Order: sequence, then C-alpha cells, then structure tokens
Amino acid sequence: MNRVYIKTYGCQMNERDSEAVAAMLRGRGYSMVDNEFDADVVLLNTCSVRDQAEQKAIGKTGYLTKRKRSNPDFLIGIMGCMAQNRGTELIDKLPDLDLLVGTQKFHAIPDHLDNIIATQKGLGPRPSTVVDLEEEEGSQNTIRQHISDERQVTAFVSIMQGCNMNCAFCIVPKTRGRERARPIEEIVDEIEELAEKGTKEVTLLGQIVNSYGRREIPIRNKKSPFVQLLEKVQDIKGIERIRFTSPHPRGFRQDLVEAYRDLSKLCEYVHLPAQSGSNRLLKLMNRPYSRERYLEIVDSLRTMVPNVYFSTDIIVGFPGETDADFEDTCDLFKEVSFDMAYIFKYSIRSGTPAAEMGDQISQEVKESRNQRLLGYLRESSLSRNESMVGTTQEVLIEGRAKRGELYVGKTRGYRNCLMPASDRLVGELVKMKVDRATQSTLYGDLILSGIDETDTQPVSLSNSN
Ligand code: SAH
Ligand code: F3S
Repeated sequence: MNRVYIKTYGCQMNERDSEAVAAMLRGRGYSMVDNEFDADVVLLNTCSVRDQAEQKAIGKTGYLTKRKRSNPDFLIGIMGCMAQNRGTELIDKLPDLDLLVGTQKFHAIPDHLDNIIATQKGLGPRPSTVVDLEEEEGSQNTIRQHISDERQVTAFVSIMQGCNMNCAFCIVPKTRGRERARPIEEIVDEIEELAEKGTKEVTLLGQIVNSYGRREIPIRNKKSPFVQLLEKVQDIKGIERIRFTSPHPRGFRQDLVEAYRDLSKLCEYVHLPAQSGSNRLLKLMNRPYSRERYLEIVDSLRTMVPNVYFSTDIIVGFPGETDADFEDTCDLFKEVSFDMAYIFKYSIRSGTPAAEMGDQISQEVKESRNQRLLGYLRESSLSRNESMVGTTQEVLIEGRAKRGELYVGKTRGYRNCLMPASDRLVGELVKMKVDRATQSTLYGDLILSGIDETDTQPVSLSNSN
C-alpha cells in the first residue's frame, strides 16, 4: 500500500518540487517507483502555464481513475499549479480524486497520505477528496533537498518562490503566489550538503532569480542579493558549475554581467526570456523593458564573455500580434542568434488580462510563426555546434545514454555531448575533442590526459585544426 509514483508536468521548478515530495515520502517509509503500473498511489505534479499541460493531466487522471473500479484502494492525487489554479472545480470534473494539494502545501503531502490510508483501513467510508490549497507563510523554506542517498551529479536548488510581476499572459503569479526568498544561509547549507554527496553542478531556480532577496537583503558593495548569493555558491568546495534560471531583463544589471567575468564556476549560458521583439507587444504584455534594452544586455554580456551562449522564451500569437510585430521578433531572434529557445504558442489563461484582450490570433498563424522561429533556431543552433567541431570542450559526464554504449554530458554552454566513457567517469569533468555536430548534440572522444586537471575555466574555443 505504500508504493508511490510521481508524474511531473512542466518546468524545472516542478521537477524540483517533485523530488522534495519524493524525499519526504521516503522519509515516512513510502517507496518511490518509476512507473504508474507498480504504484499504489499516483501523484500528478501539474502545470498550468498553457492549456495543453492542464488537459494532459486531466486526461491522465481520468484514465487512472478507471483503475479504482478494480482496486478501490488505489489512490490518485493532483498537486501543484493546476490544483492551485483550478481548485475544487477539479473535483467536479474528477470526483474520484483522493487528494488535491496546492503549491504552498507540498510538505503536507506525507501527512495527508498517511491519514487517507489510515481511514481506508476499515475505519469507515471512503472520505471525500482531501483538499489543501491554502497559502502558508514560510512555505518557500519547506521545499529543500531532503536527504537522498543517491548521488545527483547535477541538482536543482529552489532559491525563491512566487512572482510579483504581472505579465498579461501569465498564470504563474496566481499559481505560485507572491515572491518569497529563502535565506542565503539555508540555500548555502543545502548546496554544501549536495556537494558533500558528490553534486558538481547546481542550477538555482526561481521565477525571477535576479530579484532574489531584494526586500530582505541589503545591497553590498554595489552587489545585489542575487550576486551575493552567487559569490557564496562560488566558494562552496566540490561545486564546479553554477547555473540559474530564469533572470528577467528588468534588473539585469552590471553586477550580474560582471559576475560572469568574476565567478569562474558560473557557466557562460544565459537563459533570458524576451517573449517578443516588438516594443508595442512588450507593452501590451506588461513586460517592463524594450527590445533595445534587451539587446543592450546581450551586448554587454557578449563584451564581457565573448563565447557566451543565449537562450530565450518567446510567445507567438499573443493577442493583437501583427505581421509587423512578428517581424520585429524575427529580427531580434536573428540578431541575437539564440543557441536555444523555447517558443510557445500563446494559450489563453482565464483570469489573466490577455484573456480579455480582443483580437486573438488564429491557430494557423500561431503555428506558422512558431515554425518560422524554429527554422531560425535550427540554423543558429546548428552553426554554433558546427563551429565547435575540432575544438576541445570541458564536459561534465552525467551518466549513460538511454540507448547504446555512449555516455552523456554537457559543456559549460549547455550543449549535449555523447562520447565513449566509463562508469568511473560519471560526475567527472573531462575534456572532449569534438569531431561531429548536429543541431542538438556534439559527438567526440575524451582526451585522456585532461581528466585529472582541476581547471574549471572555460576551455578556449580556438580551432585546433
Ligand atoms: N519567470 C518564469 C516564467 C515562467 S512561465 C521563467 O522565466 O522561468 C515560462 C514561460 O512560459 C514564459 O517565459 C512564457 O514564455 C511562457 N508562457 C507563460 N504564459 C504563457 C501563455 N499563456 N501562453 C504561452 N506561453 C506562456
Ligand atoms: Fe510569469 Fe512574467 Fe512572472 S512570465 S512568472 S508573470 S515574470
């Protein structure tokens, strides 16, 4: 009765939250399984950013409830953003749901499951759905890495919760609540613990990481609280690489640009959501920066770190997006020549300002704009990867590839690598000579003499051919 499977939809923050829930459940004697068929309890950690993600989770729940007919003890829970966004309305749709838990109550899940299982053991009729959707002060501090014995070569660390911006299209402020930062010391403790267990790379997570702690922590030496945090993480022994996602163009100041020069562990890969390249649209989206400012940030980073990599989020088909607006986005896209991009077709989120705007864009137009940007991305990503053929790259080996004999790893610029290696090298920084590139992957061989070097500086991109 205690085998749990957690299925996660959506972003890295959700993955992070699922890991924390799994760790808490393990601590209570539950065992985690990796597929729904072996589980007595299935928990769906849901996403509400686009309608499609909600529909998937609703469909999955409907499908799972069929199993209850033959096995009434089988339990199903929905947690996270969709629980918060749709609330008890979900129970009308899915009356067989056992548990509905919001984004500030993940830590309460073990108690709820214990209680549900106890009542099931013959102590009366099946209780109605357990609902826990309240806000909770301090909940950002309950999502931390609990002891997991398995070594994680790379780990996500949540540094804050919530978002105070009001982008016209976005449901996140509703699902995740107001911005709340975790104290620096607690984040550092968590990362030290991870490092002791062998973690080499951490990704700091928040909706707008560069506004981390701005109300709680004073600026020191002209450095924002976020940069102060990065400096502390830089000093943690054992950690070799630092990443974060996502910063916001607003508040991306010189101290953060300089951090890329000064902090050797900070990887030169910047995910900087643009959403649009049209100033008119940025205004309608309530994004407080211009395309000129966005490009200025890109330029200042390129000046500081010439081989920096850029990634972005773009929405196509926001209400009222004209051909001219979209051309502006294409121009920005080509000008930056993104190495990676997440392109989203606008999805109406009820309760957000954009849902009320007239002039919704047709599915066909969204699709064709999507395809055009994907085309540009293919070109820029492939040409970036091809430029690395013949160079030597520092790669962190993460494990065996899903298929075949090769091992997978990533460069500091977040490029996927495949190479022959060995189990002994998992979690190690190695040097790989790139001999072939596709849009998504670099292939090559290890340069064995480089393995024991502790040098964490980016390797030079000079072409050795
Ligand atoms: N601040 C977060 C954003 C979370 S939402 C971050 O930067 O990580 C992730 C992305 O989903 C957004 O950047 C946006 O591009 C996209 N998105 C948000 N709402 C959307 C909607 N209604 N339709 C389509 N895409 C959306
Ligand atoms: Fe959403 Fe905008 Fe915040 S995209 S998460 S409201 S910065």
